[in-house]
Amino acid sequence: MNYARIIHLKKIPDSRGNLTAIEQLDDVPFEIRRVYWIFDVPGGERRGGHAYRQGQELIIALSGSFDVTTDNGRESDTFSLNRSYYGLYIPAGTWREISNFSTNAIALIVSSTDYNEEDYIRDYNEFETYAEQKQQHG
Ligand code: TYD
Repeated sequence: MNYARIIHLKKIPDSRGNLTAIEQLDDVPFEIRRVYWIFDVPGGERRGGHAYRQGQELIIALSGSFDVTTDNGRESDTFSLNRSYYGLYIPAGTWREISNFSTNAIALIVSSTDYNEEDYIRDYNEFETYAEQKQQHG
């Protein structure tokens, strides 16, 4: 069973301003296909509320803070992201929702796949059935 987990990214401290870099298959445990970001989120809004069949992600709070709730069908966790040198790794087959965005928060999302609506599971009941079958048959 795969679990969502925080990955500590390297931070290069500098009196001129800090720097963090990510490289595929090193800091990020997959080949990077796509990067997108979520910004200008109105107060109280939530994003996500779906799972991917194949897609893996790394979610980083580039600016501000937000919470990510993950669910692999067995266990649910909530991670508070508020540092740009922490990444939350989300394995394939994980339901995830992002909430509690602070003002000016930016969520950077690094993905292992191209955008493909067919890869989404947007119905929670369908996800539960999918996760159960995956646990039984791998
Ligand atoms: P969605 O993944 O549902 O957003 P979130 O999970 O953050 O709430 O995507 C919202 C819309 O944006 C949807 O119509 C598809 C489009 N979209 C793209 O065109 N390309 C992308 O890479 C992503 C992630 C979404």
